[in-house]
Order: sequence, then C-alpha cells, then structure tokens
Amino acid sequence: MADAAYNYRMNILGISAFYHDSAAALVRDGEIIAAAQEERFTREKHDNRFPSNAVDYCLEAGEITGEQLDYVVFYEKPLLKFERLLETYIGYAPQGFGQFLMGMPLWLRQKLHLPREMDKALNYKYKGRYIFPEHHQSHAASAFFPSPFEEAAILTMDGVGEWATAAFGFGKANKIELTHQLQFPHSLGLLYSAFTYYTGFRVNSGEYKMMGLAPYGEPKYYDLILEKLIDLKEDGSFRLNLSYFPYCHKTVMINSKFQKLFGGPPRKPETPPNQRHMDIAASIQAVTEEIVLRTVRNVYRQTGLKKLALAGGVALNCVANGRILREGPFDDIWIQPAAGDAGGALGAALLVWYQLLGNKRKVNNLDSQQASLLGPAYTDWQIRKFLDSVNAKYHIFEEQNHLFDSVADLICREKVIGWFQGRMEFGPRALGNRSIIGDARSEKMQSNMNLRIKFRESFRPFAPCVLQEDADDYFDMNSKKDSPYMLLVAPVKREKRLPLNTLPEKLKGLDKLKIRRSVVPAITHVDYSARIQTVDPQRHPKLHSLISRFKQKTNCPVIINTSFNIRGEPIVCSPEHAYRCFMATNMDVLVMENQLLFKEEQPQAAQHEVDRYKAQFELD
Ligand SMILES: [Fe+2]
Repeated sequence: MADAAYNYRMNILGISAFYHDSAAALVRDGEIIAAAQEERFTREKHDNRFPSNAVDYCLEAGEITGEQLDYVVFYEKPLLKFERLLETYIGYAPQGFGQFLMGMPLWLRQKLHLPREMDKALNYKYKGRYIFPEHHQSHAASAFFPSPFEEAAILTMDGVGEWATAAFGFGKANKIELTHQLQFPHSLGLLYSAFTYYTGFRVNSGEYKMMGLAPYGEPKYYDLILEKLIDLKEDGSFRLNLSYFPYCHKTVMINSKFQKLFGGPPRKPETPPNQRHMDIAASIQAVTEEIVLRTVRNVYRQTGLKKLALAGGVALNCVANGRILREGPFDDIWIQPAAGDAGGALGAALLVWYQLLGNKRKVNNLDSQQASLLGPAYTDWQIRKFLDSVNAKYHIFEEQNHLFDSVADLICREKVIGWFQGRMEFGPRALGNRSIIGDARSEKMQSNMNLRIKFRESFRPFAPCVLQEDADDYFDMNSKKDSPYMLLVAPVKREKRLPLNTLPEKLKGLDKLKIRRSVVPAITHVDYSARIQTVDPQRHPKLHSLISRFKQKTNCPVIINTSFNIRGEPIVCSPEHAYRCFMATNMDVLVMENQLLFKEEQPQAAQHEVDRYKAQFELD
C-alpha cells in the first residue's frame, strides 16, 4: 500500500528571465517534469522577456494550473542585482550616468516588480509566496542536484549574477554550500565576451563561434593577455585590468586602449576572419583554459572531494571541459546541460525542494536530468494533422525498424535529414530529438551543411553522435565513459586519423579546412578534436537504433548531429517549425516521429522562398 505522505504532490515552478535565455522549469516531488527556454516558443533567439510561454508549457506538461503550484521561485535576487548596478554607478559617477539611465526603464517597469509580473503570468491564480535565491546558488543547484553524485565539489562560472561571477563549494546529499566567490567586475565570462565582441561575434551568443575559430589560430597573444589584462593567481582567482574594460560605466565591453594593444579595431561582423582574429581567439581560449584549470585544481585542494559538478555559462566551453577531464585532478565531472542562465530556472526549483524544504535526495546512477529531454513532444496524430493542413506529402512507417533502415540508407547516400523525435531538448544543444543529421564520413558534408542547410560561416565545426559502446574506438575519451550532453571535446583517436599530404605548418587559417584529416572528416575539427555526444539505448533508444543500423551498413558508428535550425533561428520546437525550416533549406528529408517526407515530393518545394525565411531571423 502506498505511503499516505507519498501521495502528496508538491509542484515547484522555477523561472529565469530578463538577462538572456529566459526559461521555466517545473519540479514535482523532486522530479523534473518539464523545462524549456522561452525562445523556442517565441522564435526569438535568446529571448530574455518574461517566459510566459514556457510557464504555460510547464503547467500544461504537469497538467496543473497556477493554483496548484506550491512554490514559485525566481533564479536570482533582483534587489541585490539592482544594488550592484547602483553601487557600480556610484563608484564611477559621474561617468556611467548614460548607461545607468538606459537600464532604468526596464528595472522600474518590470525587474523591481517581479511578484507583480509573475502574478500576471500565472493569471493571478498562484497565491503562495515568491522565493529569490542567489544567481550562483541557482547555478550550483542545477549542477549538483541532478548530477549522479552523492557528494561533489561544485564550481559555477559565468558573466555576472548579482555580485558573484564565479563561486565554488560543495554538495552533499540534499544540501549545497558555496564557500568562496569571485565578484564583479572581475569575471571570466565577461572577459571571454569582451574578446567575443572584439573578434566580431555577438556577445552572449557568439562565444561558441569564437571557441570554434580558436583552432585555426596560434595562441600568440597568450602572454600579452596575462601580462596586461589580467592578474592571475595560482589558485585561479584574478583581477582584470579595468583600464581596458569600460563595461562598468559604459555599454561597451572594450575601449581604444584594448584595440591598440591587439593591433586594430574589432573585426566587423560578417567580414571574413583573418589570421590575427584567429590567433586572438586561440589566445583567449588558452587563457580561459588556464584560468579554469587553475581554479579546478584549487577547488580540488580546498574541498578534498573527488567529483566535480559544473554550471554557469563558462561551463558551456566544452574545450575547457575536456581539459578538466583529461588534466584536472577530479575523478569525474558532471556538467548541467543547460549551464547558462536558462538552467538557473531548473536549479532554483530544485533548490527549494532540497535545500529549503529538506527533502531526501535519491541519486540516479545516470543522472536525474532525463537526457535533458524536458520540452514538448508531439504525437503522430498531431504531426499528421499539421502535415495535412499544409498539403504535405509524407510516408508513414508503422514499423520503426523499417524507418531506421530507410533513414540509415538515406544517410549513406549523403542525404541531409531533419530528425524530429520525442521531447525537445532543454539547453542550447540539440541532442538527437531536434537535430539535423548526416554522414560523418562524407568529405563535402561540413561545407554542404554549413552553407546550404544552416546558412552559416564555413569554419563552424560539426559535432558527432557516436554509439556509446564504440566511442572509445574513435575518440580519446580518457576515463570518461560517456558524454551524453555534447559538453566535452576530445581528440579523434590516432588510428582514425589520416596521414596529411601537406605539411600542417604550411596550412594557415581556413585553408586548414581543406584537408581530410580522419575517416570521419565531417566532424573532425582542424586540431583533430571533436565535440562528442555519446548515444546510449537508455537515454536515446531511437537514435541508438538508427546509428546501430547505420553501423551495420557502413561499419561506422558515428554520424553528424547539428541543431535543427538555421543561423539565428532558435532550435525548432513544433512540427510546424520543423516543416518550415525543412522547406526553406536544402535539407533532403524530414522525419517526424513515424512520418517521413522527401523534399522533392513536396508540392510547394520549388517556389519556396529561402530568403524570406532567412530574413525572419537576425544574424547571430
Ligand atoms: Fe549566470
């Protein structure tokens, strides 16, 4: 007979908003019921408005209304953040008055009145109180509570929350404690973003691109950065030289002194990056890795713990993560897949359940993140209803093995496939449910996918999905058995690399792209690295079956997996989004659950307007 107390179900809604990547998450009795970013619904990338759509989705997924929520928790303390803005302004007054004024309307209208905003979003049905933990506590909770660790050190690093820009401490059972922090304006996230801007990418979204550009360059400016910009201590703590970074009192991240130091103005967005830009990207990436590794070694010394849980935007730097795993002292690491501020919504909700309410925590050996498949799913019936409404022509596969077989054949024939299955991913990476997939053995696939499908820069690398059981044959995984969230970069195994006909030192910049480097060239970056997603049958039964079928045909357990979107577009959420993206790109095939569509069979395919579709999304 069930325990009477067990029947009580407690619903906690977590919310993050107003910085970037607003999101909502619903936790029920410690279990994650749903989580999603607002951008997926509004189709505005990194949407930072109050996540009304994501909240609606979470309530719907939990089959509850606002009245049935026991707690609503916002991922940071707005008043403390406001205090930081005020104090920073006062510290620099009269400079910075313009920036201060610019930020005020949003603060006065919404941010300082969050309970009112939240009341409105919940249709005035929620009668409980609102909780505001600290920003880095929310990150830390998102790192530790879903992790597969009973006990672990915790490290969070980002741009900035209220005051903290990095924090560490530990988690044990159902409690976390942050014991150390680094404070604004000294911030690794902001330092990285300053260089993101300087190398011509957009702050808070182009960091990933700069990381992808880094392997084309040499870290020639490494010493210069450490000498002039940053006073880095052995324990990983640092102070930035603020005479190069005016972001405390201006809306820009770098000044003319910075530009002079690095030999010129920032790269103009959309102009081709030159060798200097690539060398600068390589240099700041190397500095970032050095800071992270020093910090991690210090956290290890201070906590004496063997495992590490990570979150905060810097934890999305999967090259640094790979080095923590290979070179760091920790036996094992776990990284929150939604490591940025979206994940703060989830962390905040889990923090209330465990830390505030003291509920017992049961550790799941895989982890409790449920493969981060926490967003909306659509039934065959819903998909067909939509496809019929637009007169799409599709084939229904009653037998899933036939579907996997046909799709594996299509991948072999170098077709590019939109793969839409189950629940949408929570976090910035597509993990096989809203993905575009293709043949990793194909030489032309990287440029084909970049230029004809995603309409993005040719240097951008693609990531592999590999059967977990075969990952070790292709990649140097070190001791780590899995990387289910595509958050680790590891080298392609030597035996899978190909001898180069041209000496590598003769190749400069983007020319490095022209060389076939391994038996899976489409996913091998120019430095032989790959951002790996391991696919196991528990988390991804369908994708695992599909890749297994592909392996039977080709002896290769690796495919390309990239997010289902074009440049500047949020990852698709619904069948409608997927179909529109499929029709507007040169994708050959779309598979949604058991429905398969060929582009050439679609009635309006010929006259579809690619440009109009692309124009909807601002370049990121
Ligand atoms: Fe953050």
